[in-house]
Amino acid sequence: MSDSFPINGVDHVEFYVGNAKQAAHYYQTAFGFRLADYSGLETGNRETASYVLEQGKVRFVLTSALGPDSPIARHCLLHGDGVKVIGMAVPDAKKAFEMATHNGATKAISFTEQKDENGVLRFSAIKCYGDTIIKFVDRSDYRGYFAPGYQNSSTASNGNGSSTRHKGLGLAVVDHIVGNVELGAMNRWADFFAKTMGFSQLIHFDENDIATEYSALMSKVMQNDNGKIKFPINEPAEGKKKSQIEEYLDYYQGPGAQHVALSTGNIIDTVTTMRSNGIEFLTVPTTYYEELEARVGKIDEPVDKLAELGILVDRDDDGYLLQIFTKPVQDRPTVFFEVIERHGSRGFGQGNFKALFESIEREQELRGNL
Ligand code: FE2
Repeated sequence: MSDSFPINGVDHVEFYVGNAKQAAHYYQTAFGFRLADYSGLETGNRETASYVLEQGKVRFVLTSALGPDSPIARHCLLHGDGVKVIGMAVPDAKKAFEMATHNGATKAISFTEQKDENGVLRFSAIKCYGDTIIKFVDRSDYRGYFAPGYQNSSTASNGNGSSTRHKGLGLAVVDHIVGNVELGAMNRWADFFAKTMGFSQLIHFDENDIATEYSALMSKVMQNDNGKIKFPINEPAEGKKKSQIEEYLDYYQGPGAQHVALSTGNIIDTVTTMRSNGIEFLTVPTTYYEELEARVGKIDEPVDKLAELGILVDRDDDGYLLQIFTKPVQDRPTVFFEVIERHGSRGFGQGNFKALFESIEREQELRGNL
């Protein structure tokens, strides 16, 4: 059966941030990204500064406003640093836009063809949860930089240093992007992905799967036809204390992307370097590792090494996975990252939810938000 809404993968994730120059340095030095392209005053862009960072097939764009009247400045004022654009690579950005809007999606950017000497970049966008948008990008006739108006960072002479400084940390591809929505809105957004882009539900977790003594959440994982795009959607559930999802919603001032999961082929090497680069991760009690082999069986990685780094393990019928979560990467307790290595498992670490959420609650408590 042919895919009615073909998507070839995540094209990019664009973050609106308060200071893109400094953020670009952080993602290069701590996460091992390479600075590829740049757009800003030096390239004739009078409104914004954008840095395009690449590692494996992961592409992040960090954008800041150059003045107070920009919608980017307003976005940062309201939400703090966060994910604005989820870019999806599609073969036909016009058709994708027409199908999605015909089926109920709201327009964010009409179908646009942007031309320069490198060809034509075609894109369009629809509104997603909160102020987040989903952008359909077709690069098939464009051979330039990230987009018209961008230049190679070294050509633009605003490169934050050399663009070849990093070999990378092995981060390869965006595995999934999780959204947090308001109480009662999860089903509406699951339906949105199903109706507008032909996604189907992969898994559903209710408050019994994801509950600690204090707080709970519910989650539905939506995926596209070829399985390359996975969007879990969380909503808070009633608990004795404040759900981590509510904390996010309070500080993000509404729904938005909670975490971006990046896959690696060697999580031990990747996390070892990230830790030495100063990235902070959530930790679980040492008892987690004493019970680990009894719970997940034989795995290839040495358990003492996983314990030292704080990497979690889960197993399902298809295999196992290794995962770890950073603490929020800005002062507001909002956006964070997951690093994941899959050995067959297509799950999301259900067996780790309890330990993980207790760990998050310890952090919430320290912030006075539990
Ligand atoms: Fe995740």
